[in-house]
Amino acid sequence: MKLLIDKVMQEGIVLDNEVLKVDSFLNHQMDPVLMQEIGREFARLFAGQSITKVLTIESSGIAPGIMTALALNVRLIFARKRKSLTLTEDIFVEKVYSFTKQETNEITVSRKFLAPGDKVLIVDDFLANGEAAFGLARIVEQAGAEVAGIGIVIEKSFQPGRRVLTKAGYRVESLVRVASLAGGKIELV
Ligand code: G4P
Repeated sequence: MKLLIDKVMQEGIVLDNEVLKVDSFLNHQMDPVLMQEIGREFARLFAGQSITKVLTIESSGIAPGIMTALALNVRLIFARKRKSLTLTEDIFVEKVYSFTKQETNEITVSRKFLAPGDKVLIVDDFLANGEAAFGLARIVEQAGAEVAGIGIVIEKSFQPGRRVLTKAGYRVESLVRVASLAGGKIELV
């Protein structure tokens, strides 16, 4: 995805060798044309997989997730990190530890929206250690549904997320793979 690679290279800001700030187009301000292209690309990569739902996690996963769901003509579900006032019915719950933030969140999805027979595409904005994607996959499996794959906008390939997810048998497709942020420089795989 040339459009996305250009954005990362031109607008990405390296913080402390491990974190890439991309809040001009992905994590704060969002670029709808880019999001639409991202959705189309995930839909192309996972075409023919009979996907029935896209699953992401709030908040930055929602924009690429909804555009992917639109391109696949299915619904998007986003897992919540905060307790919802109205989410009072039965829920799937998983604990997700963030090494980056050093905190554990309980993520929740209503049992109404996932069922055995669903083929679920997990989409997220970043892949670092893979904890969020694993938590989402465990929720899909709690529901008796199937993980069709994991679509990531920006993968930090120098962190273990891809390795652990592929080792667990999941197909991971990342649109941009960052090999290194050392010395303040963005290098792609
Ligand atoms: P993991 O799920 O792969 O293990 O990642 P980790 O716990 O390390 O990430 C925690 C949060 O930090 C996630 O967002 C993730 O998207 C974000 N993150 C991780 N590495 C980077 C990075 O290099 N740059 C940016 N911009 N974000 C990164 P979150 O807390 O869920 O935030 P949000 O979705 O509400 O924005």
